[in-house]
Amino acid sequence: MKPPVESTRMNLPVDGNGVRFYPAFLDRDGQATALAQIREVFATAPLYTPRMPRSGRPMSVRMSNCGSLGWISDETGYRYESAHPETGRAWPPIPEALIAIWNQVAEYPHAPEACLINFYGAAAKMGLHQDRDEADFSAPVVSLSLGDSCLFRVGGSKRGDSTGSFRLNSGDVVVLGGDARLAFHGVDRVYPGSSTLLAEGGRINLTMRRVTRPDVEYPRPQHGAAPLREK
Ligand code: SIN
Ligand code: MN
Repeated sequence: MKPPVESTRMNLPVDGNGVRFYPAFLDRDGQATALAQIREVFATAPLYTPRMPRSGRPMSVRMSNCGSLGWISDETGYRYESAHPETGRAWPPIPEALIAIWNQVAEYPHAPEACLINFYGAAAKMGLHQDRDEADFSAPVVSLSLGDSCLFRVGGSKRGDSTGSFRLNSGDVVVLGGDARLAFHGVDRVYPGSSTLLAEGGRINLTMRRVTRPDVEYPRPQHGAAPLREK
């Protein structure tokens, strides 16, 4: 039997210190398998450049998704959609290698519905933000990093809270759950050339999320509803 996975406690100024960090969760072979499965996703859901809400300014990170829903951003705002904004095709399923990670660390009884794929070139970064477009914050956000290392920053659940940063390397997993589910987080910078996993260089980050509440059925069944009668 596989031993239970253990996270390293982070000494970060975060509410309840609920950030769980699993350094080197995947070894090199595991990283290569996950990467090969993500490359298959790119064949049907290519990376595209998302735009900032309102201004329409392009983000420095390129994105794609897998799962029944995908997170997108454009002039009209942030939201989840079932199809790629440029090809119009449904997102491909979340690959097995990622679902296996969710099953080991999420501590949540339902499957993820979305996996956002971020690709960072040498100059890309991501400002401090919260992941809050999901309906159920009892589910964590589970992140896997592949390729070049980055400096990851995390704070509390209020924008003004103090923050701390640490380096995320290829194969590392981070879980934002519990008290840390709404922690502000972002990527200050990438360290180009720090990994040989991606032939083209750069960093891929994958974040799995539960989007809808599993206990709410859409549409709600209308059991026993009385037929409408005209007066
Ligand atoms: C994200 O917050 O969507 C990505 C975080 C990361 O790149 O590590
Ligand atoms: Mn995020």
